[in-house]
Amino acid sequence: MPNLTVVGAQWGDEGKGKVVDYLARSAGVVARFQGGPNAGHTVCVDRNTFTFHQIPSAILSPKATCIIGCGCVIDPYVFEHELAVLRKKKISPGQRLVVDCRAHMILPYHQQLDRLRDEQLAKQRIGTTGRGIGPAYADKVNRTGIRAGDLLSEEVFNDKLKRNVAAANFLLMDRYKAEPISFKATAHEYWQATRRIARMVGDGSRMLEDALRRGERVLFEGAQGMHLDIDLGTYPYVTSSTTWAGGVAPGTGISPVWLEEVVGIAKAYTTRVGLGPFPTEMNDADAERLRALGHEYGATTGRPRRCGWFDAPVVRASVRHNKLRALVVTKLDVLDSLEEIKVCRAYRLEGREVGEFDPFHAAELEPQYETMPGWREQISGCRTFAGLPLRARRYLAKLEELCDCPIALVSVGSERSQTIPYKSRKLRWLR
Ligand code: GDP
Ligand code: IMO
Ligand code: MG
Repeated sequence: MPNLTVVGAQWGDEGKGKVVDYLARSAGVVARFQGGPNAGHTVCVDRNTFTFHQIPSAILSPKATCIIGCGCVIDPYVFEHELAVLRKKKISPGQRLVVDCRAHMILPYHQQLDRLRDEQLAKQRIGTTGRGIGPAYADKVNRTGIRAGDLLSEEVFNDKLKRNVAAANFLLMDRYKAEPISFKATAHEYWQATRRIARMVGDGSRMLEDALRRGERVLFEGAQGMHLDIDLGTYPYVTSSTTWAGGVAPGTGISPVWLEEVVGIAKAYTTRVGLGPFPTEMNDADAERLRALGHEYGATTGRPRRCGWFDAPVVRASVRHNKLRALVVTKLDVLDSLEEIKVCRAYRLEGREVGEFDPFHAAELEPQYETMPGWREQISGCRTFAGLPLRARRYLAKLEELCDCPIALVSVGSERSQTIPYKSRKLRWLR
């Protein structure tokens, strides 16, 4: 049975939530392998819209068991909020939701430190989501983190928390001149807030291994995007986890030998939230127009997303690093009204032409554009590739050629049903 890894091919917000929901209908198990509530994955089914930050986007598929893998960081307050929203819609995950005991917990001081640090960095700030991601991963790597499994013993939890609150208070008072936090109040409140999640703690690694051995269909849901990766992204303007397919094995606790195929999600143009290089960023007027057409505001922070033209060298780098078998192109309908559409096919760098995004020289890359005519027609009602206007099909063919990767699915709206199979047989998962 196939297993499939889904990753963002740009800088996040490519529509992974929508695509994971679509692909997960035939999955037995779906696992998140990195990130935390910095993610905002939107899923629209039958006019109901859900935004998942912490819980895998496949939770709406009644047959899928959802695992929050050991490479994730978890904010229990966000987790509880998402469960409450699901309950309101009469969806109860029950035994279908499991939190790996090794996943790290985000504590309130992580958020405080995240925000204070970004503020203090001023001009060099990253523009983080303020969700405490960097500080929580820093504690993990520093070997002082609190893990989901620690929520099973109040004594263990309190011991670790006491030490961590002392360290956090030192930073808060000494470095940031902020108020210290109270160990007692934090311990009490957090312990109460985590009683439900504690009941969901299990061995996600073992469950995944068993599912793979049984031959179940397993899907791995990435968050953020290739170029926000801690190692391969536009460092330091990145997130603190491994966002490409290389993160699946350490982020779930299975052998990389199990992994079969990877699909990359790419928008029909490019967006980015937060700071950092963005070669094809548009001028203000064009960006504002596209932002309005595509509702490009962050699903986690509400910040306006920076907008730009499709950058093939950016996606081509994702194709190579992840060995993508196919792409899913989303939000094609957002380009419906444009007279002309630009695509970056390569860059000029020191008098040479370069075909792949290079984060080390990101600031010097000069995009080389091809301009294509728009189709000036509404496509959100199309359900077959043949039904798309010729100019839209030509645009997709151009993206395939420039990215050197076939397109398996095309998305023309946020609803699950607004998904068009194209070269879907390229993915074993869709055969
Ligand atoms: P993710 O983080 O990759 O899951 O993406 P987000 O959910 O943050 O952002 C994608 C946004 O685009 C969401 O509001 C989706 O509902 C919406 N969306 C996804 N696919 C399409 C599409 O094909 N067309 C349009 N118009 N909207 C889409
Ligand atoms: P999804 O999964 C887009 C960006 C932030 C910031 C940088 C670091 O919805 O695609 P962090 O809070 O992670 O320390 O912020 O990463 N970022 C995202 N941008 N989509 C996301 O997630 C993101 N998660 C983090 O804006 O630039
Ligand atoms: Mg998002």
